[in-house]
Amino acid sequence: MDFLEQFEHLNYVHEANYVLNSAREIMFGNSAATSRFGQHRLGQDIVQVIRNPECLDLVNEVLEGARVAEKTVAFASPANGLFDVRVARIADIHSTESLLLISLLDINATQQAEDMRSDFVANVSHELRSPLSTISGFIETLKGTAKNDPPARERFLDLMEQEADRMVRLIADLLSLSKVEANQRRRPSGRVDIIEIIQSVQTSLAKKAKDEEKTVALHADTDVGNIPGDEDELIQVVQNLLENALKYSNANTTVAIKVALENDEAGMPGPVVVLVVSDVSDGIEKQHIPRLTERFYRVDSHRSRNDGGTGLGLAIVKHIVQRHRGRLKIESEVGRGSTFTVLLPMS
Ligand SMILES: Nc1ncnc2c1ncn2[C@@H]1O[C@H](COP(=O)(O)OP(=O)(O)O)[C@@H](O)[C@H]1O
Ligand SMILES: [Mg+2]
Repeated sequence: MDFLEQFEHLNYVHEANYVLNSAREIMFGNSAATSRFGQHRLGQDIVQVIRNPECLDLVNEVLEGARVAEKTVAFASPANGLFDVRVARIADIHSTESLLLISLLDINATQQAEDMRSDFVANVSHELRSPLSTISGFIETLKGTAKNDPPARERFLDLMEQEADRMVRLIADLLSLSKVEANQRRRPSGRVDIIEIIQSVQTSLAKKAKDEEKTVALHADTDVGNIPGDEDELIQVVQNLLENALKYSNANTTVAIKVALENDEAGMPGPVVVLVVSDVSDGIEKQHIPRLTERFYRVDSHRSRNDGGTGLGLAIVKHIVQRHRGRLKIESEVGRGSTFTVLLPMS
């Protein structure tokens, strides 16, 4: 085995690796190193490839006698971002001189996931705390000034009930979100009658539609029939989209639901079921559209909260559609209305 052959296997690992001699010259760099930090020449000083002082400090520490040195380091271009850097002294099978192995593990994705998780926890805590502090406030009032005031007591109890309901809805949505996420990799195995699902959701929301002076019109292709999917989850998709359309549309308008079977839908292999929910409303400004499926993202949080929204509906829809290997498209025209399209593959 020649000198370079002993490091050949490093071309198959994820981390970027360099092997240096005691003059800090590059004796070997693996493929991951080239793709993250650019081309290098053998014999080149590592300083010319990795221009990061913290990383070079680690190299020097090991050159001065430490066996291992490690640290999380933020790199500028071209590598961009956080890496776990580890420098270790290793033996060369061809000589008595020892070598240095630098390995750089990209932890940007891990860091991003961690940031998202902590944002999420902060958001959930905030969303739960506001109804809870409202309830606590009313309890105080009921024990004090409102104690002997029956009409006030009734009013406060109603408000407390509303806030408690909000917490119940929030927790229910959080649980369905985490359930869908946990099953994300497993495709649903059941078959469902999508038209029957739409009709049952339509019935359950009929009162809400009537209260808001809106009608729901369903146009369904008769040949759609049974499709692969999870019944509970597809109910949630239809429910969230229809609820939103009823909630955010103008009074005295019609929400249209269309279901059809399509054979050539761009970007989808094979036949798909296309479910379209469209409403007549003020519409959604362009800059919001890509963010609507983020957890707790609302265009108008005041309005969403007043209407009992949790800000999780579209996040749940997106995850369910992903689990079904489908697609969710959101289109909107300001002053006219919005269209939410769900594509579900038939096989
Ligand atoms: N049909 C729609 N028309 C206008 N805006 C909508 C519509 N559906 C959703 N949105 C916007 O997207 C946001 C997120 O929706 P969602 O996740 O269902 O949360 P919620 O309805 O609880 O606020 C809503 O707050 C609203 O701003
Ligand atoms: Mg909603």
